Amino acid sequence: MSKLINSAEWNAVKQHHREIAGKFCMKDAFDKDPQRFDKFSVTFGDLLFDFSKNLITEETLPLLIELASRAELSAKTEAMFSGSIINTTEKRAVLHTALRNRSNKPVLFRGKDVMPEINKVLAKMRVFTEQVRSGAWTGYTGKTITDIVNIGIGGSDLGPKMVDTALAPYGKDGLKAHFVSNVDQTDIVETLKPLNPETTLFLISSKTFTTQETMTNARSARNWFLKAAVDPANISKHFVAISTNVEKVKEFGIDPENMFEFWDWVGGRYSLWSVIGMSIALYIGMDNFEELLMGAHIADEHFRSAPFEKNIPVIMGLLGIWYNNFFEAETYAILPYAQSLKYFADYFQQGDMESNGKSATINGEKVDYNTGPIIWGQPGTNGQHAFFQLIHQGTKLIPGDFLAAAQSQYDLPDHHDILISNFLAQAEALMRGKTEAEVREDLSHEPNLDDALIASKIFEGNKPSNSFLFKKLTPRTLGTLIAFYEHKIFVQGVIWNINSFDQMGVELGKVLARAILPQLKNDEMVTDHDSSTNGLINAYKRLRK
Ligand code: F6P
Repeated sequence: MSKLINSAEWNAVKQHHREIAGKFCMKDAFDKDPQRFDKFSVTFGDLLFDFSKNLITEETLPLLIELASRAELSAKTEAMFSGSIINTTEKRAVLHTALRNRSNKPVLFRGKDVMPEINKVLAKMRVFTEQVRSGAWTGYTGKTITDIVNIGIGGSDLGPKMVDTALAPYGKDGLKAHFVSNVDQTDIVETLKPLNPETTLFLISSKTFTTQETMTNARSARNWFLKAAVDPANISKHFVAISTNVEKVKEFGIDPENMFEFWDWVGGRYSLWSVIGMSIALYIGMDNFEELLMGAHIADEHFRSAPFEKNIPVIMGLLGIWYNNFFEAETYAILPYAQSLKYFADYFQQGDMESNGKSATINGEKVDYNTGPIIWGQPGTNGQHAFFQLIHQGTKLIPGDFLAAAQSQYDLPDHHDILISNFLAQAEALMRGKTEAEVREDLSHEPNLDDALIASKIFEGNKPSNSFLFKKLTPRTLGTLIAFYEHKIFVQGVIWNINSFDQMGVELGKVLARAILPQLKNDEMVTDHDSSTNGLINAYKRLRK
């Protein structure tokens, strides 16, 4: 048995779970305690985090906090912020927090302050983005850039795409941001169809500059461009590289002058704060990009200094553990009531699942407890007409987060109050449910009451959720929210004693694909895999003709 599940702290939470699971009723708890909301909510600037609709009593959080203390969360947090090699398998520091360190206080990595380098790249980014946005940077025929195409995948795609979509109201008129990630040619072909090579700027975003999908798309983009521009000398006006790998950038044919650097202590899925955020800075401008950084920085300060019982990411992480490890919930839903956050769940699907989808501890032991949950979700109210039925009346416990802005970015009448009333009603309905007595009361006018009809209308309720309500989705607020979720993931990784910063699990498929690719180049029968893989490869060769 692992030290974690053998620990007094774990067993105390387990005992507490036994006492309340199946017995604790949230609705009764609200009825009995008018202070419940005040007790279980935290305000951070103009953001409210309400966690009162959870299966918790006043004893729960202190017990969970013991788990965090046992795991030395504070010391490990400081180790991350101060550049220790906490990504032990890859022997790397994890310093995305330095990228948004707006205090500019020195952050030492191997004895050297990383802030001057970060500030130098930010300054270069400012010059470049201002040139493009002002029209001073022109394409090979002298025209202003109208379209930016970010080519990247995973962390080199999802963050910028999520943020650009979320902050579209801050986007520059006349400049569009596009994202190509999938090696399926449909992605690049359809994206490029309406674009003009004379006014298109490609950002080739790849930490390693070796990722197969990104390099394949980058080559196709270059071919598409050269079909019109002909002379390779024109590439320098239209291709920018964002990477840690200067050699590979040169090899691809991008002038190192057009390269923006970051460092191996920035994890791919934590890289939107670096130059990987170039498409954000181009689209919303450098001042707004720095506001995004500032939002994350103030969240970092909160995470580092607030006591655990008032610390939003710590509470998020602990409640996640409560459901994941004690109620055995397999999944976690992210439910923004904001269309502009339509990629927020996708973003944290990678953020969380690539970070905490691990089954070996930092010391190499196999875990004997559940680690990262399945993350999923989509914006309300669409989700209500898709999967909410199962959350309300299905057999699975699905905790989740609602996120909503008090002010819309737009000003049509009616929409926003309708949207928000739906968010509030869903969280309330999940918590309250509907009893048989209430159903019978509702149907009292019916002459012949059918038991099956009554059963179908009963909602158990007692379904947990957190709610984030913030004033408006500004760059600063978005930065704060993203950082909160990042730190939630960190908190959970620390308690599970896993390395949240490597991603070895994506390697095996990549290696096997490299072995299969040459076998697809001819029509010969393949026999050296298992019979299913052989059968599929041979069928592909037959069907593609
Ligand atoms: O999915 C694996 C991964 O390494 C991610 O961690 C990363 O975000 C993505 O691939 C892209 O990597 P790169 O930026 O090196 O192209």
